[in-house]
Amino acid sequence: MYIKRIKLTNFRNYKDLELNFDKHTNILYGANAQGKTNLVEAVYLCAVGRSPRTTKDREMINASADFAHITVETVKREGDIKIDIIISRTLKKTIKINGVPILKMGELMGNINCVFFAPDELKLIKESPQDRRRFMDIDISQMSKSYFYLLQRYEQVLAQRNKLIKNTRDYNVLKDTLPIYDVQLADTGSKIVISRIKFIEKLKKNADETNRYLTDDKENLELEYTGIVGNSIQEIKAILLKEYEKNYEKDFALGYTSIGPHRDDIKILVKGIDVRSFGSQGQQRTAALSLKLAELEIFKTEIGEAPVLLLDDVLSELDSERQKKLLQRIKNIQTILTCTHFDFADKNEQKQFKVQDGHIKNS
Ligand SMILES: Nc1ncnc2c1ncn2[C@@H]1O[C@H](COP(=O)(O)OP(=O)(O)OP(=O)(O)O)[C@@H](O)[C@H]1O
Ligand SMILES: [Mg+2]
Repeated sequence: MYIKRIKLTNFRNYKDLELNFDKHTNILYGANAQGKTNLVEAVYLCAVGRSPRTTKDREMINASADFAHITVETVKREGDIKIDIIISRTLKKTIKINGVPILKMGELMGNINCVFFAPDELKLIKESPQDRRRFMDIDISQMSKSYFYLLQRYEQVLAQRNKLIKNTRDYNVLKDTLPIYDVQLADTGSKIVISRIKFIEKLKKNADETNRYLTDDKENLELEYTGIVGNSIQEIKAILLKEYEKNYEKDFALGYTSIGPHRDDIKILVKGIDVRSFGSQGQQRTAALSLKLAELEIFKTEIGEAPVLLLDDVLSELDSERQKKLLQRIKNIQTILTCTHFDFADKNEQKQFKVQDGHIKNS
């Protein structure tokens, strides 16, 4: 698939923009604070339903306007799709697919698939397990709506269970009430875990291969899903039930549910060493990029169509050899990338747009 056109009205510093993208590499370049990331953010928003950098939708409305309207038109094998998102200061966000408003966010998933990478995504490697779970969850949700609903369900029950733990003073009362929640959590949780394990299994091989490619075969990459694991939904469900029960006293003391898929993680090893704790900055950056490029391959095989790759400010972090390798690697899929300057580009290979103060010049 690829994105044919984007229209922005009152979105961040764009008052009124209409832009046609190339099917392959699109380079948005310009000085700092001109609107490059804003444009990438708008595309991501139409794919996932939320911004990659804020949870407050209203921040995306132009400071001097009351609403923002984003339209993205895509070309897909099974028919073109138009997504409209309208964010208002007073009303709920409206999302339309081909002109028809959707009722649930899950309906948006899978219409535009994208893989997003920005310097901040290094947190995928460096920071808390929550970032790595989000990485898996957003990806699997894009490939499977039912996974998205499972997650929502799990979160709901988990919130109820946590509330109960917090509000119950008597341990014996709590012990008798928790099993109802455990069954529901284990039921959805086991399906979540098995999907994530399968996802990591698929990701593994490609991430390793990409990491070797980017490092001239100097560094291999290993991934492992860690947490409560098993070989089948039934097995994981049984283990989860047991583990929830085993931790009643601990949960009571802590005031929340201390184990389960909401605490799982991915272990990432470069040359056999945990890259999170011991990797150099460069190793971490390359590993994160390898994971993202591996995601692309999974999308291609799972959906049969390549997603759009969004690379915000990634090139400046790579030396020119790695920049060239990266561009070579992605030249057959649609990429929208931003940078302040570049010394590698070829106008025959890439479409270039100069971004200046909320306006774009096609050069
Ligand atoms: N809601 C808003 N209304 C108006 N302008 C906004 C809004 N939100 C952000 N901006 C403006 O958008 C600009 C930042 O845009 P963006 O983050 O896309 O910059 P950039 O071109 O990616 O720069 P850099 O190279 O530093 O990453 C800033 O000038 C900021 O003031
Ligand atoms: Mg930026």
